[in-house]
Formats: sequence, structure tokens, C-alpha cells
Amino acid sequence: MRNLTEANLTDAVLARLQDCDDPRLKAVTAALIRNLHAFIREVEPTPEEWFAGIRFLTATGQICDDKRQEYILLSDTLGVSMLVDAIHNRKPAGATESSVLGPFYVEGAPEQDSGADLAPGEGPGAWVSGVVRDLDGHPLAGALLDVWQTAPNGLYHVQDAEQPEHHLCCKVRADGEGRYRFRTLKPVSYPIPTDGPVGALLERLGRHPYRPAHIHFIVSAPGFKPVITQLFSEGDPYLESDAVFGVKHSLVIDYQPEGDELAVHYDFRLEPVGA
Ligand code: BEZ
Ligand code: FE
Repeated sequence: MRNLTEANLTDAVLARLQDCDDPRLKAVTAALIRNLHAFIREVEPTPEEWFAGIRFLTATGQICDDKRQEYILLSDTLGVSMLVDAIHNRKPAGATESSVLGPFYVEGAPEQDSGADLAPGEGPGAWVSGVVRDLDGHPLAGALLDVWQTAPNGLYHVQDAEQPEHHLCCKVRADGEGRYRFRTLKPVSYPIPTDGPVGALLERLGRHPYRPAHIHFIVSAPGFKPVITQLFSEGDPYLESDAVFGVKHSLVIDYQPEGDELAVHYDFRLEPVGA
């Protein structure tokens, strides 16, 4: 088509999808084109503004490597990751709610029996315990909890050469009655990485980069859908303003003193596959 104008350009671009034989790719690309064009019509960027956007996306890609994923950070801080999660993980009542995986999960933490100490010699410690159950409350024997969190300096072991590999991480196997228990350190709130384009954007938007203190979990059991989630600390100052929008009320736990240490109890509930 010749004589493309502001009025007919979007339809002309959409028409080029006619020979795509992958229906999902066609639908997704069409939605992307429609929404991108609507964005441009709303914002009416100047060419300089459009090029600033291109430079931002270029810098976002250039800082990525096998340990740094700035696009995930961008998706997280714009609330897109939690929206994808909310749509994809609609949970039945009573099932443990999900939250973002985040960029610091490392597969391969050592598997340990219930009762593991993730921070030997460090303390005061926090004992985290509970039962993994199905939606009717029956315990799930042998459920697996993959756990990771930051050290008191606010860094995950993968971010910090001073920490041993898999520090404050483990896979804990629940016992025959679904019970799990491990000793860790009460997590701290920490900023997401701010030394890249996403950090610069947050700064210009007047947003802080902090996440409320949390422990990450992937909880699984045969025949049940694994849940990727986090348990947040009651009283944390960032619970209402998490930089990545990951907090849910049902995931907030309250550590209580127990002797010289802390303790908290939380039961996970998994939905069956096919529910
Ligand atoms: C995290 O909790 O590890 C995390 C999640 C999203 C962005 C950055 C960090
Ligand atoms: Fe985290």
C-alpha cells in the first residue's frame, strides 16, 4: 500500500501478518503492534525522546550477562512480572499465593534433611518451620522446599564473592508428615541493583529501590503444582512499597523470640496438578 498516513499506518502493519502460519505468534505480534502504536499516538514522542528510549533499551541489553538480567529487573519494577504471575497463577482459595522468582535463584543448592542449619556459627538465628499440605489440609510427605535469601549485608551469594557458594540456600526435604524446619538468619530489606539503567530510571522517577525482607521458596511435591513464592517479615518498612510489587498479605510472617533465637511457623498449601 502506498500513501501511508497517521490514519492508516497501523492497519497496514497489521496486514503484513497475513501469511504468518503460527496463530499464537500472529495474535501476540498483532497485539504488540496495536498497543505500541496506541502508546505512540498517546505520547506523541519527539524524535529525540524516541531515540532516548532506544538508548535506554540498548543500555538495558548491554548490561545483561549470564549473572545480570536487567530486562527482568525492568519487567519487575514496572509491575509486569507480577501481572504475568497473577494471570498465569490464578490460585484456588486456600492455596499458597505466588510471588516473583527474582534474578538471584541458582539451581543446585545442596539437599538437606529437615532441621538443616543454613547459618552454622552465625546468629542469632531464626528457625523457620511448618507443614506442607494439600488443599484439604493433608500433609504432603517428602515435599521439597528450595530456599534462598540474602545475607545480613543485603546480598545474595551470587552477588558477593565473600560468601560461600549457596550461602543461606538449601533444598529442605519435608519429613513423612510433611513437616519442614530449618535454621537461617532473619532476612533484611535490600535494594535491587541500582547501578544500571533500571536503577537510573527509578531514581529519575522518584522511586526507592528497596524490597521488604523476605525468604524465597519454591515448594514442590509429586502430583502438585510447584509454587514460587516468598515469605515477608511483619513490620518491615517496605511492605507497602516493594520496588517489584511482590508482597501479598497471606505471605507476611511474624518472627517471635524463642530462647536466644527467633522462630516462625508457616504452612504451605499446594494445589493438585490438573485442578
Ligand atoms: C529478589 O527478590 O531477589 C528480586 C526480585 C525482583 C527483582 C530483584 C530482586
Ligand atoms: Fe529476593
